[in-house]
Amino acid sequence: MEKSILLVDDEEGIRKVLSIALSDMGYHVRTAENGVEALRIFKDARPPIVLTDIKMPEMDGIELLRRLKEESPDTEVIMITGHGDMDLAIKSVKYEATDFVTKPINDEILEIALNRAQERIAMRQKLNEYTQNLEQLVRDKTQKLIEAERLAAVGQTVAGLSHAIKNITGGLKGGAFVLEKGIELSDQKYLLQGWEMIKGNVDKITNLSLDLLNYAKATDLNVQACDPYEPAQEVIDLMRPRAQELGIDLVSDFSPNLNTSHFDSDLICRCLLNLVTNAIDACIKDDSGTQDKMVTVRIKKTRGWGVEYQVLDNGCGMNAEIKRNIFKRFFSTKGSEGTGIGLMITKKIIDEHNGVIEVESQEGAGSKFFIKLPKKPNG
Ligand SMILES: Nc1ncnc2c1ncn2[C@@H]1O[C@H](COP(=O)(O)OP(=O)(O)OP(=O)(O)O)[C@@H](O)[C@H]1O
Ligand SMILES: [Mg+2]
Repeated sequence: MEKSILLVDDEEGIRKVLSIALSDMGYHVRTAENGVEALRIFKDARPPIVLTDIKMPEMDGIELLRRLKEESPDTEVIMITGHGDMDLAIKSVKYEATDFVTKPINDEILEIALNRAQERIAMRQKLNEYTQNLEQLVRDKTQKLIEAERLAAVGQTVAGLSHAIKNITGGLKGGAFVLEKGIELSDQKYLLQGWEMIKGNVDKITNLSLDLLNYAKATDLNVQACDPYEPAQEVIDLMRPRAQELGIDLVSDFSPNLNTSHFDSDLICRCLLNLVTNAIDACIKDDSGTQDKMVTVRIKKTRGWGVEYQVLDNGCGMNAEIKRNIFKRFFSTKGSEGTGIGLMITKKIIDEHNGVIEVESQEGAGSKFFIKLPKKPNG
């Protein structure tokens, strides 16, 4: 690459002599006779090195240096000083002049100064390349890490899923076996029992695929002005027969006169259904038999939020270890009865609403789940 330099001096003689010397050293030389002209040429040609007289009429060398550095901090600026320009020279150090050569100019000393400037330029270029390479390296590594993490997540998901599906197919096979026995023996009791088992597992797989769809789906909330009582009432109507069958009291505790709020009613219904199902499971699991089992769905107005739902039970409760893990995918303490997707989906849906879900629970003392939804999910 051709070396290029801008020479600035108000004396034509010096411009001429120095131009020749610089050309001999292999430079492509541009010249300017004052600071204004120098700035104009600089903006246009961007030479990496500027050699300028320190004393010039109008704009002196210091001012030119200052402006050049402002425009392009990496430019190497060498000052030409006369004897007795010591004050100016010191000043130009402050503005980061690369070097000084004193008049009358000795070609050898000039060349040394220029070589030093070239070295600095080369060094800076190398440093830039290193930094860029380093940045690229970090980007590549990060990408690889993200991919590895994603693969691990996919692996976990597949493992969890196959576990869930194995449970369900196990249930289906069992049901089919009992049903076949019923057919074989013309036994009405077996027929019914087998059929119930199959029906239960068909429900399970339906729920699983619904949950998975919700989980895989990109955020696509159907937010509308909703009656906050509606999803809660729907869940209670849906679950009351099952609760009754199990001897659990499913009750509503709704604050009156709540305004409409903005959320996706179907999805919030799904969340409440997950919470109530878990609460019922917790009541079944708690076999202490000391008190009547009860699940409460509460709606209330909370300052700063659109609406708050609570699902309370006096079931088995959770210890600290379980509480830490409940929102993780496929975490379940229910063996073949649970997939561990319910709360993960619930949290995802609440997060997408910019709401919060919290839990208070103690082993043996029941659980309280809180869902707070903002007035509007998007501010
Ligand atoms: N109300 C509750 N009381 C006690 N434990 C609970 C309660 N709710 C959730 N848990 C615990 O959190 C775990 C995770 O719940 P989650 O709903 O995600 O999965 P699951 O109910 O096990 O399976 P499913 O995918 O069928 O819902 C449960 O297995 C249970 O241990
Ligand atoms: Mg559940």
